[in-house]
Amino acid sequence: MSVEFRGRVFLAPLTKGGNLPFRRLCVAHGCDATMGEMAYARQIVRKSRSERALLRRHADETCFGVQLAAQKPDEAVAAGRIAVEYGAQWIDINCGCPIHDVVRRGMGAVLMQKPNALGRLVEAMARELPVPVTVKLRLGWSESTQNVSEVARIAEESGAAAIAVHGRTREQRYSRSADWQAVAQVASERSVPVIGNGDLLTYYETERLWQQSGVASVMLGRGALIKPWLFREIAERRSIEPTAEERLAIYVEFVRYLKEHFRDDDKGRERALRFLPWHLGFFCRYRPFPRERFEAQSIEHPLLQTRRDDDADDGELSVLERLLRDPREAVHARLAEVLWGAGDVEAAIAAALVLAAEMPPESGEAAEIATAHG
Ligand SMILES: Cc1cc2nc3c(=O)[nH]c(=O)nc-3n(C[C@H](O)[C@H](O)[C@H](O)COP(=O)(O)O)c2cc1C
Repeated sequence: MSVEFRGRVFLAPLTKGGNLPFRRLCVAHGCDATMGEMAYARQIVRKSRSERALLRRHADETCFGVQLAAQKPDEAVAAGRIAVEYGAQWIDINCGCPIHDVVRRGMGAVLMQKPNALGRLVEAMARELPVPVTVKLRLGWSESTQNVSEVARIAEESGAAAIAVHGRTREQRYSRSADWQAVAQVASERSVPVIGNGDLLTYYETERLWQQSGVASVMLGRGALIKPWLFREIAERRSIEPTAEERLAIYVEFVRYLKEHFRDDDKGRERALRFLPWHLGFFCRYRPFPRERFEAQSIEHPLLQTRRDDDADDGELSVLERLLRDPREAVHARLAEVLWGAGDVEAAIAAALVLAAEMPPESGEAAEIATAHG
């Protein structure tokens, strides 16, 4: 089976965020290449139900990859075979996860420090699996040990069909903006497609960085979590600035997918409400960022979580807009319940307005994109 890794905009693998209902939402808003949440190869082989659930693919996903956290080639191959039976069209190896527990067990970002071990993983998987194998790299473990060029070379020589590069090191987490020059360097050195990733939030910076870096494709993480319609913006080369009502309609659509996945009953509600408030924590960071005002700023300060809409006058925002921008977790929990209970968009708007009256915004609240995930 072959997969086109060039000329595409991928949804990044996102633990918790890349659940099947959210991926459907992205597909409905223009995404045609999705990836599942990172799944542990060992747990898949051991038939863990929760881990195998991460392999499920929706019929709407026409190009779907599974990401594995793996250390041992035999386990990675066995888990890869199972993922293919579930419908994976390619298998990616996670080489970027910074979480201590993952790294301690020899997986994730620690593979950046062990390129030969990664090479053996890729080689076995590329030889044994009927689908392409890819790797998702960071720039290195730390700035002083930045070795992405070497790791990417070994991955390609071992049989990787494409290489995604998140332009930060493990130690940087999200404290620095992604280094697209370093991503470009890898793209210039490799003949397999390189997929660039980091800090893409608007169509115009995606276009600029895609062209300047010479990558084959790009990948969206938090940008998609904040505004799933970013895929359509990039495809149509324009900003889409949905009103608060239009955004609420998108969240209602997401609830419909959650209900279809988890079921519209008490148990389904309980399970969906583990995800929905979390997603609202990303959705609330949406700001329009029109090109004419923000293009220069996006070059000077590309770090996604510190973008500010300084020109916005909070006083002019509608009640619904203020509610949807509210960063408080208590508001996200209540809004999630409102969305779950509302049958349609009109009912959701009416119930949201009641909620806004019950939970007025706190004074002096920063209209800021807070730091995301680790
Ligand atoms: C909530 C969240 C979960 C993530 N989970 C994974 C994961 O499971 N596997 C992975 O390779 N990267 C994971 N990442 C990293 C993203 O795939 C991506 O490389 C990173 O966020 C940079 O892209 P961005 O600036 O567009 O967000 C995660 C990121 C976030 C914010």
